[in-house]
Amino acid sequence: MKISDIPEKLQEIQREDRFRKVQDLRMITASLGRDRAGKEYIVFNSNDYLGMTHEKEVEEAAREAVSFGTGSGGARLTSGAVFELSDLEKELASFKHKEDAVVFNTGYMTNLGVLYALAGPGDVIFSDALNHASIVDGCRISRAAVKVYPHSRMDALEKLLKETPVTGQRFIVTDGVFSMDGDVADLPSLVKLKEQYDACLIVDDAHATGVIGETGRGTAEYYHMEGIDIQVGTLSKSLGSVGGFAAACRPVTDYLRNCSRPFIFSTSIPASAGAAALTALRLLERNPEKYMGALRRNTKYMKEKLREAGISFLPGDTSIIPIVMGREEAAMEYAARCRERGILLSAIRPPSVPAGTSRIRLTVTAAHTREQLDRAVEVMAECLADNA
Ligand SMILES: Cc1ncc(COP(=O)(O)O)c(C=O)c1O
Repeated sequence: MKISDIPEKLQEIQREDRFRKVQDLRMITASLGRDRAGKEYIVFNSNDYLGMTHEKEVEEAAREAVSFGTGSGGARLTSGAVFELSDLEKELASFKHKEDAVVFNTGYMTNLGVLYALAGPGDVIFSDALNHASIVDGCRISRAAVKVYPHSRMDALEKLLKETPVTGQRFIVTDGVFSMDGDVADLPSLVKLKEQYDACLIVDDAHATGVIGETGRGTAEYYHMEGIDIQVGTLSKSLGSVGGFAAACRPVTDYLRNCSRPFIFSTSIPASAGAAALTALRLLERNPEKYMGALRRNTKYMKEKLREAGISFLPGDTSIIPIVMGREEAAMEYAARCRERGILLSAIRPPSVPAGTSRIRLTVTAAHTREQLDRAVEVMAECLADNA
């Protein structure tokens, strides 16, 4: 595309009602935000599942670590090797029952970094159709062949595994919890297939860590099984910070540190981000019931209240609640109406979800109060009546 074509491209985006604008918000608590005009919103579009961004000990750890510098000064292999990130790697590895972990700067960069470093010509990546964009982009830059199987269709995956010639390594890559539908990957079948076809199984637990499994360890704990070879995750959701990680056996993590360009060539997250995530992880490990229990109770309560109000949503075991509206405009208008009345929800439309399945995606967190949940359902029901 020529730069001079951009204005026309933008007009096209505007004509199709797809033009997006950033709307600033200052979070007062983990579930309440205020815009620049001072208007307050109850927030249901955040992935801060456990409310860790505003947990006192997490804030204090970050504040204390700022005294070691606001930035890290460089990439980990050069100057940005702050203590907190290495400590965090050790504890993430143990949390995920792996030998080691590598911290990247975001979850997005982790998927790019893992797939770029490990998959290449001769290899084949088998990827779920609803995988997150960062996995899709990681597949693209890997130079491996990519086969996409329909969402969670294990029969289709098996057929592809059987039919696709491979000279190198097979990789199966999937979200653990799918971000837009809130459903959980079929790990038992994936592990069976990866063993049968000698594949390497990569599971991205961005929305699973701190959310599913009795103690928040994610997809493997949810199914009470091991079998994931490389566990990808983010620090930006239930761990209340920013960054990402890959946990695996030691040769894989050493290889990533040596050969993954997003790890090598980007200034690392600062000590404060590492300290925040490390403290959040410790709080979760020390008292899973406090955080996971609150998340589960709030999610159950919200789902019951939505049902009572006649608002239907896709079923699932997570705190992602998708309300499918179909048309893009319907989802956009509904989110805008709720916003006017102080409730922030996400309107999700193509390309994030398939055409015709535009939806409202709301996330319940451990930080929401009962009053906030009640108020949200009240507003959502009113707005639904307006929509009709
Ligand atoms: C499955 C999945 N992986 C990775 C990411 C990216 O993580 P981060 O926001 O830390 O870059 C997301 C973010 O929404 C996600 O849903």
